[in-house]
Amino acid sequence: MWGGRFADGPSAIMREINASIPFDKALWRQDIAASKAHVAMLAAQKIVTAEDARTISEGLDQVAGEYEANGVPEDWDLEDIHMTTESRLAELIGPVAGRLHTARSRNDQVATDFKLWVRDAIDRADDGLKALQIALVTRADENAASIMPGFTHLQTAQPVTLGHHLMAYYEMTARDRDRFADARRRLALCPLGSAALAGTGFPIDRDMTAEALGFDGPTHNSLDAVSDRDFALDYLMAASQCSLHMSRLAEELIIWASQPYGFVRMPDTLSTGSSIMPQKKNPDAAELVRGHAGRIVGCVTSLMISMKGLPLAYSKDMQNDKPPVFEAAGLLDLCIAAMTGMVADSTFNTDRMREAAELGYATATDLADWLVVQADIPFREAHHITGAAVKLAETRGVALDALPLADLKAIDERIEESVFAALSVDASVAARSSYGGTAPNQVRSQVKRARKELGMEG
Ligand code: ARG
Repeated sequence: MWGGRFADGPSAIMREINASIPFDKALWRQDIAASKAHVAMLAAQKIVTAEDARTISEGLDQVAGEYEANGVPEDWDLEDIHMTTESRLAELIGPVAGRLHTARSRNDQVATDFKLWVRDAIDRADDGLKALQIALVTRADENAASIMPGFTHLQTAQPVTLGHHLMAYYEMTARDRDRFADARRRLALCPLGSAALAGTGFPIDRDMTAEALGFDGPTHNSLDAVSDRDFALDYLMAASQCSLHMSRLAEELIIWASQPYGFVRMPDTLSTGSSIMPQKKNPDAAELVRGHAGRIVGCVTSLMISMKGLPLAYSKDMQNDKPPVFEAAGLLDLCIAAMTGMVADSTFNTDRMREAAELGYATATDLADWLVVQADIPFREAHHITGAAVKLAETRGVALDALPLADLKAIDERIEESVFAALSVDASVAARSSYGGTAPNQVRSQVKRARKELGMEG
């Protein structure tokens, strides 16, 4: 493509280090679409004849058909998807193919193709997250009143409802979707027509190509347009945060599925067995979701470090932008789908969860609160009295509400029979009906709000 000024061809090492076709062939659909938009504009602006434009456009369709049927050929000499396509086009339609590259460069071409690819990746993430949210909301609705221990420091803290716990992940994924939507909004301008770095002297119509490719308009600075990879970083940062949420949910299910907890049975379809221990069912999918988060965060680090020292405008380092984005996107899509399956198809052992909530002195705060409200005792003192009651219950190996009233009275005589109503786990969760709290009525109203946001009727 540039043989004019070169005496020697590239060495084998040059060809190998230079080739991006092994990975950027994934951009072929975007590359064809952008080329078709470009040539249609060239014709509209009379930069190429209508006839040449038609020949080129039909040739591009033919190349696309070949890619669809046989995959994209990988010839390192052709470096990347842009040259691979142009070279095949020339084989098919002859020298007129050379008119396609008028008034553009691979620099604006690759920026445009990659933006289009990232935009699709954002849409896939959003679709996946929406499906996960529907699963979360459905299971939360079923379990709005199912009692489980709530933890801080992974120590039993207060009883909560399983529905409330699941809806926490609805909130996290809502922020994820918002971050992806924000990334999508910010990639709305089209780089095509920025050419190599400085724009072009041809009378192009950048609004026309921008519109044809679904952008809001053209980018405003050609130097920025060919050197900008913020859109890829925005996607990767949103993907990273999302992967942390997937990982945390996976980790909870892993803990809950272990035998000493026994809170959940994972679906067979997302578990594996052991080759040596017949009793085992391993949460491999969840563990890999947890593990993949590390790789996805590695991808954002990789691209940030590629970009951090680059002067304007394009540098070849930027060719390394694609592998981390492709890798992260593939992993993230899988993680979201795996978590959706786990949430939708896991069996929650709600009896076991309730039992665990009853065992862990999870209602100790309720005893303290009762002392504050019913006996007008300052909270710090109430906390102290309650501590003594927990200690006694622990010595006897019984739940708080199994202590006889006489023993409670021996700790503090202001304690009355009516305290027992406050000490059950059901009373405890029902009491926490502040906005956003764990009470079943609060969970149901949050589920209702979420169902509306998701467009789930009924
Ligand atoms: N293969 C290149 C990439 O992916 C295309 C742009 C090449 N531009 C250049 N000036 N060499 O970034």
